[in-house]
Amino acid sequence: MSTERAYKVFKIENGTVIDHIKSPLALKIIEILHLQNNGIISIGMNFDSDKTAKKDIIKVENVYLSKTETDLIALFSPTATINIIKNGEVIEKRLLEMPDFVFSILKCPNPTCITNHFHDCDTKFEIFKVNEKTTNARCVFCERETPVVPEMIK
Ligand code: CTP
Ligand code: ZN
Repeated sequence: MSTERAYKVFKIENGTVIDHIKSPLALKIIEILHLQNNGIISIGMNFDSDKTAKKDIIKVENVYLSKTETDLIALFSPTATINIIKNGEVIEKRLLEMPDFVFSILKCPNPTCITNHFHDCDTKFEIFKVNEKTTNARCVFCERETPVVPEMIK
């Protein structure tokens, strides 16, 4: 079975496992959580899964991601699950909750928005869950509301 295979290939002693990520978003998630400089990371992409057609998985060794960090994943892949591993055991299974506001990581799709005219201008979006498949983000500067898509990542 695919889960058994993933388990065999990448079992970790300590750290965070982000499982059931909608393919092919693993690399985007590594980017938005700034995981690339955080030690050993194993990435599996396109595993078969029950929950989504194909899933990705990320295992970050010796790093315990905070709930604020992991909830950002809900923007792009609400089906993802977080497993905190200590001494080889899963000690916490964390479900994702949609954040109310998101700072910095998204760019506004409105070309005339002030946030697109100043290089170091931080963005801020209010997040609304529309339905199981769609989440909208509303820019607090220009008020434009659009569905969140991975292309909006800065
Ligand atoms: N895992 C790991 N290292 C460990 C223990 C678990 O990398 N020492 C990983 C597994 O590979 C799996 C995830 O953490 O991707 C969750 O592990 P587990 O709860 O054992 O798997 P499942 O029962 O399949 O959990 P779920 O159905 O919630 O995904
Ligand atoms: Zn805007």
